[in-house]
Amino acid sequence: MVDTLNISINKTQNSRLSQVDFNNIPFGRVFSDHMFVADFDGKSWKNLQILPYQPLQLSPANSALHYGQSVFEGMKAYRNEGKDVLVFRPRANFDRLNRSAARMCIPQLPEELFMNGLTELLRLDRDWVPANENTSLYIRPFIFATDDYLGIRPSDTYKFMIFTCPVGAYYSEPVRVKIETQYSRAATGGTGAAKAAGNYAASLLPALKAHQQGYHQLLWTDAKSHQFIEESGTMNVMFIIDDTLITAPTGDTILAGITRDSVLTLAREWGYKVEERKVAVQEVIDAAKEGRLQEAFGTGTAATIAQIKAIGHEEKDYELPAVENREFSNRVLRALDEIKTGKVADKWDWVYKV
Ligand code: COI
Repeated sequence: MVDTLNISINKTQNSRLSQVDFNNIPFGRVFSDHMFVADFDGKSWKNLQILPYQPLQLSPANSALHYGQSVFEGMKAYRNEGKDVLVFRPRANFDRLNRSAARMCIPQLPEELFMNGLTELLRLDRDWVPANENTSLYIRPFIFATDDYLGIRPSDTYKFMIFTCPVGAYYSEPVRVKIETQYSRAATGGTGAAKAAGNYAASLLPALKAHQQGYHQLLWTDAKSHQFIEESGTMNVMFIIDDTLITAPTGDTILAGITRDSVLTLAREWGYKVEERKVAVQEVIDAAKEGRLQEAFGTGTAATIAQIKAIGHEEKDYELPAVENREFSNRVLRALDEIKTGKVADKWDWVYKV
């Protein structure tokens, strides 16, 4: 059994906190003072440590670098008015990390190790959790293979780490997205449901091409027919057509988003009509043409709600209704912010107080 309470802590002597401009934080570039590390030695997780944030030393033969045996998560922490640190749904991220790990032949992580590592790290770096509106502390847990071996097989050894960064908005404006009908993000039997590092590498070229055509991101379609919309960029995607909230069902090509689940939970609670079913490209385009596509937005931890402003398909751009007039997505964004920052009661037990 791993002793998850026995975390050795080595505090930094040179905090970088005073160098951070909390009124102007870019996403993912500023890292808090400490990081949590645990090692899997082939049998069990050990060496639980919190250290000053620092570079890692890796062998050039590290198998994660070559073959991508690596999974990650994204979570956020907020401050409530009493200055407590609140993390949104960390146990859901823990469960998904282990599901991703299972798909990539990475050993399971004990829940107490994840939760205690997270808690101790956030206690130490609590002053890094920003308080301004639209800011939060982004938390990046990840596990990667550490065998120095070029043969293809699951690594025997791994590192689990958590580091954090204060962040502002992920997208600075509503996005223009292109329906991708050549490349695929995920195929049946593949790794689309796992938060595996390689999925994101594979998305770069199609996203870059879309960028060059004037779009911020893609709407991914199914790999077989390209007739059904699955995700948008790194997020799940939802549409409101004829007053019904529609999103693709989770399965092995779609990541089971925690923001996705939170949005659907609130929508149902509020009495919206919700359909988790295949979303045809044609139905979205027809609805856009006929003025029945009321809202479209991505859901993910980084952005929470990323409003879609326009959809490109077959050389045509379909502009969507003004973001200010979107009743559901603005309401759900506000409600999630209020739950995450402890302003309203958390009846789902989503918020974990550090
Ligand atoms: C998210 O939308 O939460 C993501 O997974 C984006 C992240 C890769 C930065």
